[in-house]
Amino acid sequence: MCGIIGYVGSGRASQIITDGLKRLEYRGYDSVGIAVRTGPGRLEVRKDKGMVEEISTALRFTSIDGNLGLGHTRWATHGAVCKENAHPHADCSGNIILAHNGVIENYSKLRDDLASKGHKFASQTDSEVIAHLIEENAKTQPLVKAFIRSIKQLEGSYAIVAMGASDTEERLFMARRNSPLVIGAGKGEMLCASDIPAMLKYTRTFIPLQEGDIAVLSRHGYKIYADDGSEATRKQITVDWDVEMAQKGGYPHFMLKEITDQKHFINESLASDVSGAWKLIDAHERVDIIAAGTSYHAGIMLSYLLQNSGKVAQAFIASDYPFIAKPDKKTLLLAISQSGETADVLQALRFGRGCKKIAITNVVGSTITTLADCVVFLNAGPEVGVAATKTFTAQLAVIYKMFYGKDKLKELSGLIETMLAHDGEIKAIAQKIAGKENAFFIARGRNVPIAYEGSLKFKEVTYIHSEAYPGGELKHGTLSLITEGVPVVALAPKDETLPKLFGNIREAKARGAFILSITDDDEVKKESDISISLPPGMDPILYPFALIVPLQLLAYHTSVLRGINPDRPRNLAKSVTVE
Ligand code: F6R
Repeated sequence: MCGIIGYVGSGRASQIITDGLKRLEYRGYDSVGIAVRTGPGRLEVRKDKGMVEEISTALRFTSIDGNLGLGHTRWATHGAVCKENAHPHADCSGNIILAHNGVIENYSKLRDDLASKGHKFASQTDSEVIAHLIEENAKTQPLVKAFIRSIKQLEGSYAIVAMGASDTEERLFMARRNSPLVIGAGKGEMLCASDIPAMLKYTRTFIPLQEGDIAVLSRHGYKIYADDGSEATRKQITVDWDVEMAQKGGYPHFMLKEITDQKHFINESLASDVSGAWKLIDAHERVDIIAAGTSYHAGIMLSYLLQNSGKVAQAFIASDYPFIAKPDKKTLLLAISQSGETADVLQALRFGRGCKKIAITNVVGSTITTLADCVVFLNAGPEVGVAATKTFTAQLAVIYKMFYGKDKLKELSGLIETMLAHDGEIKAIAQKIAGKENAFFIARGRNVPIAYEGSLKFKEVTYIHSEAYPGGELKHGTLSLITEGVPVVALAPKDETLPKLFGNIREAKARGAFILSITDDDEVKKESDISISLPPGMDPILYPFALIVPLQLLAYHTSVLRGINPDRPRNLAKSVTVE
């Protein structure tokens, strides 16, 4: 949600920023803009609503000369989607220019104060207020001090990158609170961005800022100031992701690439160290699992496995956790978040003040890693498609490793490959259901979180209404929606859930449903209109992994057949940094 990229060095800032903006697209946005310092006292700003490719070409972003600049992809929160509200935003004189992610909660008061001092605003955004605030403070002090003073006056969440046309040096000013911002350190050049993949082409060395940090970048280096104004040192990290990993590599979409990639990354995920997490779980009476969306489905699976091992455990939707739970010192908080930046999850973690915390995440240096006592990394490589696919499987893998150990899971890569081989069949099935308006996913027991996830994936990239239920729940209301030809996707592996689920399949069939089963049972196959086969004789503990792959492919192919770009479904963002 919103993306920022900044550059200072000897390279062509407009080129590097435009390239970075393209890499930030997956976060979700509606407008795009760039600002480059073209010489002392001169700034060139170009922006509009629309997509990066279209706007950057139409406004000739890369034709701007200069070595210092910043760019932004906006996801509207305050003010309509229009050119005026697109970032970057300037102060009255056009000297201060900045981009901001997040929400400034006291912006209305600040705006009124500044207006009373004569400031004129060109947009309806909360972000523009910050540029005017810096301008106001810079009347009495040097720019660095004015920037720091202005940041102290803000309430809310922000990642801010700013620069001054008439600054004495070429510098970028940065600040973060509850919104990600990372410094990228190159040779004779410095970058900053909302996430690492936007900078991978230029460096592998990164310095994630901490909450409340302020930083100043020049081509020669950076200075970080902590919340209390003192100079601070922050951990430098090196990532081994390469640019290739964050590119499509010949696939038509990231989503398909990432589904296919699972067969490789699963081994990296299984190599992740879960021992520290297990020790913490063991030492607590109760485990509260906090997550959102896809990660919540992995959380439900974890809660089932913990309950099964005799632990008191519950999975909570992160945004609701503060309204429901009363964590105390005996409670362990376990947060699952692919991005490590989901505001709802971070908020729920902060709510559990005094509790020990575990984070399961894919992103090194993400905010969640700074809040947790113990971090389990997914090692799944960057996930660019908005729909989480390989990271869900990776979440399941690290969770299963805690309970079953790595050896029991060594067949996983081969199993995923076997399920990926059903791709052609699944594409043909997608043709049969692409024109439907509703779909239902049913399962029982441990297969239920997979049905939830299959249904979420399906609805988010196909725009077909879809719901998932434990099979036993159908008769308590939903059966009234099962009519002639409605697709019912039944997750029916030959485990202890099958006899009862078979009954639910028959109930749906009797009402004319189109049954698509994923099964290794011949009777279920006979009862189904169409089936995807699970490998015969497979280890039952691996069923969830075998079930999720065809569901991801089904969502993908149906999406493409409906003319949708599955990498960027409407209204959704990869990293949901507002509550
Ligand atoms: C769905 C999807 C979302 C995310 C959710 C949480 O495909 O990706 O539901 O799972 O926004 O994101 P993270 O895991 O980054 O906290």
